Amino acid sequence: MRIEQVNSTPREKRVAAHSHIKGLGLRDDGSAEPIMAGFVGQENAREASGVVVELIKSKKMAGRALLFTGAPGTGKTAIALAISQELGPKVPFRPIVGSEVYSSEIKKTEVLMENFRRAIGLRIKETKEVYEGEVTELTPEETENPLGGYGKTISHVIIGLKTVKGTKQLKLDPSIYESIQKEKVTVGDVIYVEANTGAVKRVGRSDAYATEFDLEAEEYVPLPKGDVHKKKEVIQDVTLHDLDTANAKPQGGQDIMSMMGQLLKPKKTEITDKLRQEINKVVNKYIDQGIAELVPGVLFIDEVHMLDIECFTYLNRALESPLAPVVIFATNRGMCTIRGTEDVLSPHGIPVDLLDRLLIIRTLPYTIDEIKVIVKIRARTESLAVDEDAIDVIAQSGVDSSVRYALQLLTPASILAGINDHTSITKEDVNEATELFFDSKRSAKIITEHESQFIV
Ligand SMILES: Nc1ncnc2c1ncn2[C@@H]1O[C@H](COP(=O)(O)OP(=O)(O)OP(=O)(O)O)[C@@H](O)[C@H]1O
Ligand SMILES: [Mg+2]
Repeated sequence: MRIEQVNSTPREKRVAAHSHIKGLGLRDDGSAEPIMAGFVGQENAREASGVVVELIKSKKMAGRALLFTGAPGTGKTAIALAISQELGPKVPFRPIVGSEVYSSEIKKTEVLMENFRRAIGLRIKETKEVYEGEVTELTPEETENPLGGYGKTISHVIIGLKTVKGTKQLKLDPSIYESIQKEKVTVGDVIYVEANTGAVKRVGRSDAYATEFDLEAEEYVPLPKGDVHKKKEVIQDVTLHDLDTANAKPQGGQDIMSMMGQLLKPKKTEITDKLRQEINKVVNKYIDQGIAELVPGVLFIDEVHMLDIECFTYLNRALESPLAPVVIFATNRGMCTIRGTEDVLSPHGIPVDLLDRLLIIRTLPYTIDEIKVIVKIRARTESLAVDEDAIDVIAQSGVDSSVRYALQLLTPASILAGINDHTSITKEDVNEATELFFDSKRSAKIITEHESQFIV
């Protein structure tokens, strides 16, 4: 069988649990539109989150922490996701789940620290001497291998770069050819080569080629203005964790290396506390000099009751550091024992001293009408046709158990509708699905009724 003859199955768009959520859905004055951006109801929590987004954007929120509390399926995780969408791609957003801190290899506090640093961005502005333009020519020149043998080596690379003003041909070192290949540069791309370091960056595809194929998510950029050889302000967004790893493993991250390399000894393999402190020092220096700007992002810790007392004490301290992101917690627990203690009861399983630092936002249970709208939005996202009375049944099961269960009924119901030859999901299909798939309450009831059949 020849590979070309094998048809790959076209990838369908995957519908994840929150793919209908597109943002917080707030009006310009910050009030919540009842139904917007995929969100329904929960106005107070959304408005509060809108305020938080504003505070984060204006950098007034660093080192603070928020807590979302509410019953399962009331939209806590969905709101956190919406916050990240509102913040945009430039602000780091790092979501983790409480249980992720438990690993047999890495200390819990180490995991927390790493994620803290992944949530803090640094925008570095540098004026660099570069050669920039659209690649018109890319020819590696080969010579005989000086060591003998059959292989050929590349002696240098000829690159033609075009701008609006003119064209220039460069003869470059073979080491640059490697970075050109790494960036997958082809003729027609706009690139720049840093004069000092030889680092190559692909900016995008020249928009002269824009009509070529529209298959891939390609960024088209205009032909650069000015000379090929010029000074250019280069903006780079990195997180503190990127800097940590770049300096722990000197192979990667050419750009950052050139910045930090002079100050730190190379050949470090592990991210130690000392390394982090050194990085902080350098970062602070760059901030003072106005070269870099701190962009505190968001660390979202879902299911925070899974953390234990050690993590909580660590968080207390970490939140006070000047380089702390905004931390958002979410939990669906009420009064429970704090993990890692024998019998210390506390609201949400969080010690009171940490609770004291938190701003708490509640999510409330939904009314049946709100659930109906959520189900409709969800059906549209999953491209399912659902009868009106079927929606009523699904929404009712949402009131009886949870929104999540109601939404999960849609897929099995649609499969049953297919089996029953219905063009859209009917009430009967939904009822059949509820008989096949139990919700937590009914399951619990069955356990108590038939206790003798289960192993205790
Ligand atoms: N107001 C809403 N509008 C639209 N969809 C919602 C809304 N609230 C929740 N959903 C959807 O309902 C489902 C459950 O919500 P989510 O996962 O956010 O609940 P949760 O509060 O995090 O629950 P848990 O405590 O169990 O983690 C998700 O698919 C979510 O996208
Ligand atoms: Mg959740």
